[in-house]
Amino acid sequence: MCGIVACVGYREVTPVLLNGLKRLEYRGYDSAGIAVRTADGTIAIRKSEGKLSKLVNQLNGSAPRGTLGMGHTRWATHGAPNDVNAHPHTDESGRVVVIHNGIIENYAELRLELKARGHVFQSQTDTEIFAHLVEEEFEKRGGEGAVNLLDAVRASLKRVRGAYSFVVMDARVPDLLIGARHFSPLIVGIGEGENLLASDIPALLEHTRRALVIEDGEVVALTSDVVRIYTLDGGSVEREPFEVTWDVTLAEKGGFATFFTKEIYEQPAALANALRGRVEPQRVALPELAGIDFDRVDRVHIVACGTSYHAGLAGKLALERWARVPVNVEVASEYRYASPVVNERTLMVLITQSGETADTLACFRLARERGAQTLALTNVVGSSITRGADAVIYLNVGPEIGVVATKTYTAQVALLELVALDWAIRRETVGEIKHELLQSFVRLPDLVQAIIGSDHQTEQLAKQVNRYRSAFFFGRGFGYVAALEGALKLKEVSYLHAEAYAAGELKHGPIAMLDPEIPVIAIATQSATLDKVVSNMQEVRARRAPVIAVATDGDTFIAEHADDVIYIPYAPEHLTPILAVVPLQLLSYHVAALRGCDIDQPRNLAKSVTVE
Ligand code: AGP
Repeated sequence: MCGIVACVGYREVTPVLLNGLKRLEYRGYDSAGIAVRTADGTIAIRKSEGKLSKLVNQLNGSAPRGTLGMGHTRWATHGAPNDVNAHPHTDESGRVVVIHNGIIENYAELRLELKARGHVFQSQTDTEIFAHLVEEEFEKRGGEGAVNLLDAVRASLKRVRGAYSFVVMDARVPDLLIGARHFSPLIVGIGEGENLLASDIPALLEHTRRALVIEDGEVVALTSDVVRIYTLDGGSVEREPFEVTWDVTLAEKGGFATFFTKEIYEQPAALANALRGRVEPQRVALPELAGIDFDRVDRVHIVACGTSYHAGLAGKLALERWARVPVNVEVASEYRYASPVVNERTLMVLITQSGETADTLACFRLARERGAQTLALTNVVGSSITRGADAVIYLNVGPEIGVVATKTYTAQVALLELVALDWAIRRETVGEIKHELLQSFVRLPDLVQAIIGSDHQTEQLAKQVNRYRSAFFFGRGFGYVAALEGALKLKEVSYLHAEAYAAGELKHGPIAMLDPEIPVIAIATQSATLDKVVSNMQEVRARRAPVIAVATDGDTFIAEHADDVIYIPYAPEHLTPILAVVPLQLLSYHVAALRGCDIDQPRNLAKSVTVE
């Protein structure tokens, strides 16, 4: 997820770009850059690794002057965050300029093709290939004129596969910005004598409240006084502008009250991005795993902290069930001081959305000292965990601003299970259920989307839960993972005490504590052990504890054993750690809101625990 802003008009464009990028920093902040067409008809580019403020300081007094330009604040997916990989990117001549939000899945093959035709690349990004494609197509059309540039962009778009919002300009066409969208957002701001493009509304509000959404498969051409939308094949699209009523703060959160909520609702799109190009109806595609010699592995140690540890538990269940590989999952702070048996036949899987968690990094060093192979799952390109790992899988869900993990967790579970499935396919241990499993990941974003609509129900249940001093969660297998993560969400966001247990452990102690003052949240979705969970629910109700069940659509039997039921769509049980957690994320949000908690930055918590 990156921040894009561009403007064509009558004013000095640099301040417009920098102020717009400031409003979009929550979309990415590992590097920033601007490009301005200056009065002498050349393109001035200023870009640097680091936050926007560093670029602003560098520009101090030497900002390029011009009325056509674009700016970008990056959340890296391909190529480490550094000056060279910062956007904007150009072709060799420096005349075609591109900024991009998204992922070009076939960039490697296009890069080889372009190199074979003599193109020279500056960066390691997927974005840069688009500048070279447009340059080629524009030269074929004479390298001049607005219509030819528009045609060149359209022809280039037909070559790329993946998610994008692009903005293109060319030094030879002084009054034209071209935008294109496929999956990644792109908004037009309609001003007086100027028009703007941005990846999100906050960047526009200082200049205009009249906006147009560009839809997937559309291309838009902006001059200082005209906006025209086209289809990829050149057809014209008519669309009425809308009036933005949000204030800037609300706009930064996409209209939600908190980033936490925004990021819960973002999960269908985030999962689609995490899985993009990695799972198809017939296969898993994780080229990142090429760095692992799986034949050398006779045991797996999954190491992580907090929410990431919970994702690791789901990974264990999947790896052992599908790939038939022995797996230990350990909390990093315990693992590093125990006496783990680690050697060159161990594969350590390190799960850390920040890539900077001190305890997890310590285990990473231990693994490498012992000759073990290492696979890192992280959301931050270039983070410490990526340096020296044998393989790195990026979550690709964009920055998670809320301190409490939501979309990074669900992406971790999905990608870990995909690693397990990929390994099982290699080992031929997964058999005929392979296609059902592949299909479940293809459907996953839509399944999460269906659940998010149940928010009204969790809002009502939150009023009940909020009355109590504690809450108790339980489940079995994949459902136990969901119970653990649901309890942690409630604790972190609302400060209400909550704990989770394996349902079968109830009789070994916790049941003594249950009474009408402790609500029990039972993960009772379809699974091989559902009848056992129902028995546990009956035991709990016999102690008159109120029971809220998370159950599978259509399972009316559950309603006889619970006071309230949150229904979620049927899905294979390996998706329970994701699907059953979404309503629990929402429940924790509503309880926290009732308690007036600082939901995006809960007390005592940090987004990255870089100390022991
Ligand atoms: C997330 O909700 C928690 N605040 C926390 O447990 C987090 O999962 C843990 O600190 C690990 O962070 P990491 O994934 O960046 O390593």
